[in-house]
Amino acid sequence: PLVSMKEMLEKANANSYAVGQFNINNLEYIQAILQAAEDEKSPVILGVSEGAGKYMGGFGVVVAMVKATMEAQGTTVPVAIHLDHGSSFEACAKAIHAGFTSVMIDASHDPFEENIATTSKVVELAHIHGVSVEAELGTVGGQEDDVSGSIIYADTQECKELVERTGIDCLAPALGSVHGPYKGEPNLGFKEMEEINTVAGVPLVLHGGTGIPTKDIQKAISYGTSKINVNTENQIQQTKVVREVLAANPDMIDPRKYLGPSRDAIRETVISKMREFGSSNKA
Ligand code: G3H
Ligand code: ZN
Repeated sequence: PLVSMKEMLEKANANSYAVGQFNINNLEYIQAILQAAEDEKSPVILGVSEGAGKYMGGFGVVVAMVKATMEAQGTTVPVAIHLDHGSSFEACAKAIHAGFTSVMIDASHDPFEENIATTSKVVELAHIHGVSVEAELGTVGGQEDDVSGSIIYADTQECKELVERTGIDCLAPALGSVHGPYKGEPNLGFKEMEEINTVAGVPLVLHGGTGIPTKDIQKAISYGTSKINVNTENQIQQTKVVREVLAANPDMIDPRKYLGPSRDAIRETVISKMREFGSSNKA
């Protein structure tokens, strides 16, 4: 069923595993990720950036594709449709009204009081509709659509205050993670994560899940991380297969012949992440 992230993440938090957010770009992503979740008996979060939503024809199209695919594939595991890095109250409101079950309001680039004000407005609307809300503090490195920036760590006191004053359901404290591949080994602020976990009172979210070694994934989960976002890894694996198939078959023009095998690559990548995050057999 389509559900919010709230119960999913509280269960994960209480049982020391993390639910993956896997970003979608088209129908093949939806099919592959939902099939992986069903195969693994895992809860799953479909992440939709504003750019990806636009690409697919709007939030309404996204919700319709996800619902129809769940029905066609006989999906029984819990699924959330989540707006990733929502840039404004308006974007979150559009997603909520289109039928998203979860939104992220990313006002982390605004001054703290503005972040609180915008996030509070989103929570008020979202909770009326039974929709969960994620907010961010600090700055994730690298690029996500047109969002870019250098790394600034989330402040522990601000994390506590943001949760208390807004009523968000989960918190993404930026602690050195990066969107896209890491240059060398990631260097995550685990001391800070541990501190934030003791004061936040809500499950934590780790952005930039591509390229984080298993030992760091496990450490993050032990410090209250209950949701891990993965986008780039699926794109790398999918595109690798498209390139290989087209290189081996220069005359190929049927999109099903190269998108089909690349869809399998997404499913396999998602399955391995679910096992790594410990969410398999937790649906
Ligand atoms: O919000 C999406 C993510 O944080 C994805 O990060 O592309 O590095 O896996 P990634
Ligand atoms: Zn992110």
